[in-house]
Formats: sequence, structure tokens, C-alpha cells
Amino acid sequence: MVVAGLVSLTILYCWSSTPKNCPAPQTNPKQYIERYFGEKSDSPTGTPKEKPILLLWFWPQNYYFDFSDCKTIYDIDGCHLTDNRSLYDKSDDVLIFHRGIHWDLSNLPPSPRPRFQRWIWFNVESPTNTAKIPGLENLFNLTLSYRHDSDILVRLRLRTRKKPEEDFVIPKKDKLVCWIVSNNLEWTGVGTRKKFFEEFSKHINVTLFGKAYAKFLDYNEYYPTLASCKFYLSFENSIHEDYFTEKINGPLSVGTVPVVLGPPRKNYENFYPRDSFIHVEDFQDPKSVAEYLLQLDKDDVAYRRYFDWRKHLVATPHLIQQTQEFILAICTACDYVAHHREYKEAHDIYDWFFQ
Ligand SMILES: *[C@@H]1O[C@H](CO)[C@@H](O)[C@H](O)[C@H]1NC(C)=O
Ligand SMILES: *[C@@H]1O[C@H](CO)[C@@H](O)[C@H](O)[C@H]1NC(C)=O
Ligand SMILES: *[C@@H]1O[C@H](CO)[C@@H](O)[C@H](O)[C@H]1NC(C)=O
Repeated sequence: MVVAGLVSLTILYCWSSTPKNCPAPQTNPKQYIERYFGEKSDSPTGTPKEKPILLLWFWPQNYYFDFSDCKTIYDIDGCHLTDNRSLYDKSDDVLIFHRGIHWDLSNLPPSPRPRFQRWIWFNVESPTNTAKIPGLENLFNLTLSYRHDSDILVRLRLRTRKKPEEDFVIPKKDKLVCWIVSNNLEWTGVGTRKKFFEEFSKHINVTLFGKAYAKFLDYNEYYPTLASCKFYLSFENSIHEDYFTEKINGPLSVGTVPVVLGPPRKNYENFYPRDSFIHVEDFQDPKSVAEYLLQLDKDDVAYRRYFDWRKHLVATPHLIQQTQEFILAICTACDYVAHHREYKEAHDIYDWFFQ
């Protein structure tokens, strides 16, 4: 320690003052740091730096998947993902699924945690569907959620194209408006969209699918069905800033126009171009939305404008099986910890999340 301290003082002194009696720099500063402090990306023999260990503390809802999927699906393999708790003491980061935590915190990782270790609060639900388990407010280092101001943002962003795509062919449509609804439970916050739909559906025919309507779509029918509808109702179950889900990504990725109900239009436009979706708040009432869709149904030129954004942007289809629900989040965490090793404390996470 003492020697290291002296060496570092010498280096700092020589760097800041460049006096004559300092050794002539043979290497650049990065190499000095690597030599004296061991912050190396490659060892002298060329073996790559060890990947940070990311320990998944709970399997979310027991939906298991093969960690190598991160590489296969998203080309992410910058961390060593594991669910083996005997690696706890060595784990650089621990990913803790909020819903898996017992109310008395008895199933959290043991304390004290290793000094270098960061805990990640893993919650992809909206505030309406998040329990305020007491005692977690100041326990974590990093947050992972759909919120843009999380440390780790989970979202499939649109990507830009290098070369414009000139001739997108709108898929063949045999339905006007579709909606897949799996959940109509009042307590999950679906009241707003239910009320809207009751009025809306008096004025336009909507083809309904999903558990809530006893017309369950098989996974391999999901994308083809979406594509066969001119419009899709991307209605979120509860309304919160940044809370828009695969419900908008699905139609965008297949060539269907989403009609969104969720946070304000401005908020959507942080992630999706303004002319890629129809927002219900642009209209006076559900009836006017229905009338506008009926009008677009008769006006191919106007309808086509909702596809102009595709010339420069691409939406990627998301994984649709229920058991795949958390793969993107876990892989995104892996990618994050591979690139960010900074110290961090996350304070008052509920004040932030429920604000
Ligand atoms: C978990 O890690 C320990 C320590 O490296 C190892 O001995 C054990 O075999 C691992 N368990 C599994 C199920 O991989
Ligand atoms: C919905 O479709 C049915 C049968 O095709 C038709 O009778 C009905 O008038 C339509 N309703 C609306 C609101 O367009
Ligand atoms: C992680 O957060 C805890 C709680 O705020 C803090 O005590 C700890 O020093 C942090 N550790 C790291 C490595 O960021």
C-alpha cells in the first residue's frame, strides 16, 4: 500500500509539474495507470479482462431462460450472468426483482454486502402495480425500469437506418381496429381504458382477442394478426410517465398504426416519431377518434402518411412468449454493468418512482 501510494504521488507530481528530474514518459498516461493501479483491459498475455459477475437473485415469476440468449438475441455478452448464489461474495452486481422480495425482506441477499458490490432494483411494473415494500428505500445502488431516468432503461428503442427504405409495402389488411386484452382487472388500473373503450366501440367495430375475451391468440398468430389490422389499440393498463409497453412496439414493428392511450403525446414523442401513432388526447372524445379512423379507412393517402417514418427508422419486434417477458431487462442490465463500473447510491427510490 505504502509503495503504491508513493508511486502514485510521484506520478501525480511528475504529471502536474513536468519537472526536469522526472523520468521521460515512455508510455502514455493510460499505460501508467494500468501499470501502477492494475486497471487493465488486457493482461500482458493478452487474455481478456474478466467480465463482471451479475447475479440474478430471483428468477422473475419463475420464467427461466438460457443466459446465452442475451448473446443470441441481443448480441450482449459483456457480463457473466449467473443465478448461482454461491457466487454472491464474488458478484459485482446483484439484480433483485422487486416482486420477488418478501414483505419482511427475509429473502434479500445477506448483509453486509461486499464493498464493491452494487444492488440493482429491478422493477418493470408501473407505480399502480408496484407494492411499496418498506425498507427498500435506500438499499440499492442502481435502478432498472422503463423510466427514462432510471440508471438502466429497459426499452426497445427505434433504430435509425443508414440508407432510407423507399418502398415499404403496407401489409394486407382485412380488419379495421383490433385489440388484444388479457387483463380487465379493475385494480390493475384499467379503469380509464375500459371507460374509453365502452364509448369508442359504440361508433366503430373492434375485433377483440385475448384472455379477457376468450379468444386466445397463439404466439405464432400474434404478429400476423396484428399486421392484418389497420389500427391497433395500444391502451396501457395504467397511466404514468414513460409507461408505454410492447403494446405500441408490436403494431409499429409489423406495419399497423397504433392508437395510443397512456401518458401525454409529448411523452410518447420522446421515443416515437409524432406521425407514427394516433393519440386519443388529440381528440375531443372517443367518438371523434372513431370517426377519424373511419375517415382514414377511406383515405389511403392519409393513412399511408402514418408509415412515412419507416423510411428512416426501424422498430424491432419484441419477444412475445410470457416466459420471455424479462429477458430484455436482464440482458440490458448485463450490458449496463459491463460498461458502467461507477460507484452509485440510489436514495429514496419510492419518492422518485411514485412521484
Ligand atoms: C455454483 O458455484 C459453486 C462455486 O463456484 C460451484 O461449486 C457449484 O457447482 C455451482 N453450482 C451450480 C449449480 O452450478
Ligand atoms: C359492425 O359490424 C356489424 C356487422 O358487420 C354491423 O352490422 C354494424 O353496423 C357495425 N357497427 C358499427 C358501429 O360500425
Ligand atoms: C451501494 O449502495 C449502498 C447503500 O446506499 C452503499 O452503502 C454502498 O456503498 C454502495 N456500493 C457501491 C459499490 O456502489
